[in-house]
Amino acid sequence: MIKGGKTVLITGASSGIGFELSKIFAKNGYHLVLVSQNEDNLKRAASDIRKQYSDAQITIIPKDLSLPSSPEEIFEYLTHKSIQVDILINSAGIQVYGPFNETNLEDDLRLISVNMLALTTLTKLFLKGMVERGYGKILNLGSTGSFQPCPLNAIYCAGKAYVLHFSEGIAEELKGMGVTVTTLCPGATRTNFAKRAKIEDIRLFKGYIMDAEKVAEIGYKALMKGKPVVVAGMLNKIMTSSIRFSPRGLVTKIGNYIMQRQTN
Ligand SMILES: NC(=O)c1ccc[n+]([C@@H]2O[C@H](COP(=O)([O-])OP(=O)(O)OC[C@H]3O[C@@H](n4cnc5c(N)ncnc54)[C@H](OP(=O)(O)O)[C@@H]3O)[C@@H](O)[C@H]2O)c1
Repeated sequence: MIKGGKTVLITGASSGIGFELSKIFAKNGYHLVLVSQNEDNLKRAASDIRKQYSDAQITIIPKDLSLPSSPEEIFEYLTHKSIQVDILINSAGIQVYGPFNETNLEDDLRLISVNMLALTTLTKLFLKGMVERGYGKILNLGSTGSFQPCPLNAIYCAGKAYVLHFSEGIAEELKGMGVTVTTLCPGATRTNFAKRAKIEDIRLFKGYIMDAEKVAEIGYKALMKGKPVVVAGMLNKIMTSSIRFSPRGLVTKIGNYIMQRQTN
């Protein structure tokens, strides 16, 4: 049983934005419950965090979040260990690139499972206790893609739109209950994400790219303030705001342009 301070559960904690958030929470004295698919990556992340914060209390849970049983297994494991989750960060996310008529159905469904189903189920499972205790914070990872349709990336952006609308909806329901829900919407960010999806050569990743550390800092501050939505970075803020006032057809065409591979 973890005693003392507050506990944060972070999915996708082994890499990128989730890893940077884990370090911020370690620095601020939280107990960390780190979840990702690959056990070796998680152990490496925990060891890197301990090198910087030697007294960090860390529990690792390797789970494949594309499996429907994983969120409940995580919840049951923590309940069994009497570990109460005060803050939930849903950062695990994957990408599938290409025209929808050509992508592999199994990959498409895996994306939906990790990016939407696991996020929703974990939120459902941990929210109940937070509401009962009158305290809790949830950070869900959206994207600048939450604000627009993206050809060649259609399920991903549709999924991120789901994350944003779902999170904003429940954030409003929870007002006055001591629980806040924040959606962090980064644009292109330097992590393993593009490499994993083999999309390092698309125009989006050839332009303005933020550091994961900065994005995590922005997310942490917004989460602590209980803001419903935060777009990371000024350029991304301008871009997502301008989408609201632009013709939808044009926005989709621009989305198609920035998702194309840049060959030269
Ligand atoms: N990077 C960007 O440009 C960008 C832009 C906008 C939004 N985002 C969003 O930000 C979030 C974090 O992405 P990132 O850039 O930090 O990516 P990343 O560096 O690739 O990290 C992804 C994390 O998710 C975990 N993960 C992947 N599949 C999983 C599965 N089936 N089960 C459990 N864990 C799994 C990975 O763990 P293991 O591989 O170790 O298992 C890793 O810890 C995602 O939701 C992404 O959509 C990223």
